[in-house]
Formats: sequence, C-alpha cells, structure tokens
Amino acid sequence: MSSLQGKVAIITGAGAGMGKAHARLMAERGATVVAQDIDGARAEETARLIRDNGGTAVACVCDVADTAALTSSLLASVDQFGRVDILVNNAGIGGEPLIEDTTEDYFDRTFAVHVRGSFFATKAVLPMMKARKSGKIINISSVWGMVGHHYASPYCAAKAALLGLTKAWAKELAPWNIHVNAVAPGGVLTEMVLAQPDIEKKMPQKVARVPLGRYAEPRELSYTVAFLASSEADFITGQVISPNGGEVIVGI
Ligand SMILES: NC(=O)c1ccc[n+]([C@@H]2O[C@H](COP(=O)([O-])OP(=O)(O)OC[C@H]3O[C@@H](n4cnc5c(N)ncnc54)[C@H](O)[C@@H]3O)[C@@H](O)[C@H]2O)c1
Repeated sequence: MSSLQGKVAIITGAGAGMGKAHARLMAERGATVVAQDIDGARAEETARLIRDNGGTAVACVCDVADTAALTSSLLASVDQFGRVDILVNNAGIGGEPLIEDTTEDYFDRTFAVHVRGSFFATKAVLPMMKARKSGKIINISSVWGMVGHHYASPYCAAKAALLGLTKAWAKELAPWNIHVNAVAPGGVLTEMVLAQPDIEKKMPQKVARVPLGRYAEPRELSYTVAFLASSEADFITGQVISPNGGEVIVGI
C-alpha cells in the first residue's frame, strides 16, 4: 500500500464523487488534505469526515474557473502547512450536448473548469513544488478524452486537452522532479452520471459497453490516483492510466 505520510495534497472538486473519495483515501494513507470545491458545504463535509476519522484536512472554497480566487484561496489554504506535494486536478462538470445544441456559454464553461482551472491550479502551486524539487500532479481526464464519443464533444475536447497538458508538463517539469500523469476513468457511479435524465433506462446500455459489465465505485479510481501520488510511482511521468473496466483498450 502506497504511503502518503507527511504529504500535503490538494484535491479540486473534493466535495463529491471521485474527488471526495480521493481526498478520503489520501488522508487514510497519511496525507494532509486540502479539499477544494465550488460548493462550500460539501468541501467542509469532506474535510470534516477526514478529521472525524483522525486525519488532517481543511476545506478550500472557490470556483476553479475564477483564476484570481483559485490562486489566492489555494495559497491561503496551504499557508499553514508550508508545502504542497500533490495536486489532483479533478473538478469537473458534465453535459452531453450534440454540436447543434452546444451554446457558447457551455463551451466556454467546460474549458474554463476543466482546462483553465487545472492549468492555473498547477501554476499556483508550482513555485512550492519547484522549491522542494518534488511534486506529483495528477490530471483527471476521461476515456472520452482518449477516444472521443458520439456526443459531448466540448467535454471530450477539454479532457483531451488535459492529456496534452499532462505530456507537456511532464517534460517541462521533470528537471524539478515533478511527476505529471493523467487518470482517464471510464464510467464511475457519481452524480455526474447518476443525475443524468433517464439514467435508469440508459444504464444497461452503458454498462453493456464495459467488458467487466459494470461501472466503477469512486474509490476504485482513488487507488490509482493514490498510487500515482506516492513514491511507488517515482519513475512514472507523462503517462495516462485508464481504469475503465476494459471499455477502452488501446492497441499499439
Ligand atoms: N463519473 C464518471 O463516469 C467520469 C468519467 C470520466 C471522467 N470523470 C471526471 O472525473 C472528475 C470527477 O467527476 P465526478 O464524476 O466525481 O463528478 P461529480 O459531479 O460527482 O463531482 C464533481 C465535483 O466537482 C465540483 N465542481 C464542479 N465545478 C467546479 C468548479 N468550477 N470549481 C470547483 N469545484 C467544482 C462539484 O461541486 C463536485 O463536488 C471530473 O473531472 C469528471 O469529468 C468522470
């Protein structure tokens, strides 16, 4: 089991779903957690659950798409700890429009949350990682960013952009011993999926595309994220790991 003892981890979008699961698992493995979310009550709840379990956590509330607020609130949150070892760029929004149904606002918001949010969260913490010559950045992409989908093209494009950032940052930041990887989940049972209209009707069809015959529980993804955040992954950078139940198997 990969230890995160003594590490300080920021997880964006930690108020629900996979971000919450990542925050809780990392705390169980010894990390001090900054649980960031746009929803203050949910961020506080994640931090409280960790503290109730004997861990150390603070909530950080802002919209990752608001660069000024993101930068100042992340820096204020980690100030008391004096370091950042791990950043998980997880905050995300769903939506599955066809091209004809995509508004400019939806397009811009999708890129602002997924791409700009991840970019400027990284920029905010980088000086601290560079100073220590150590860091782990994990960008949460999606199988749809790897292979596309027959709707939701702005989401697919934003998730593909995160793969581009992952590869470029891995090269740019290697001299500072900062590892950058992406996790590209397949279907996971979170609100992003379960709140979709008619989900009960759609689920059998969705699951039928997955060789393992099911969607994942959020915590199943956290094991991959915690591994990449640990010293066990010290020779891994610029990679995309896709826990997806076999839904996407990329050949050579
Ligand atoms: N659920 C899936 O099947 C699936 C598959 C592949 C990738 N993903 C990606 O995994 C990540 C987590 O998704 P999830 O399924 O846990 O989603 P979720 O909707 O359950 O949780 C997302 C969290 O992000 C927060 N958030 C949304 N916008 C934000 C913003 N602007 N600033 C800060 N926080 C914000 C929400 O408040 C929420 O707590 C997302 O990036 C998503 O795109 C999800």
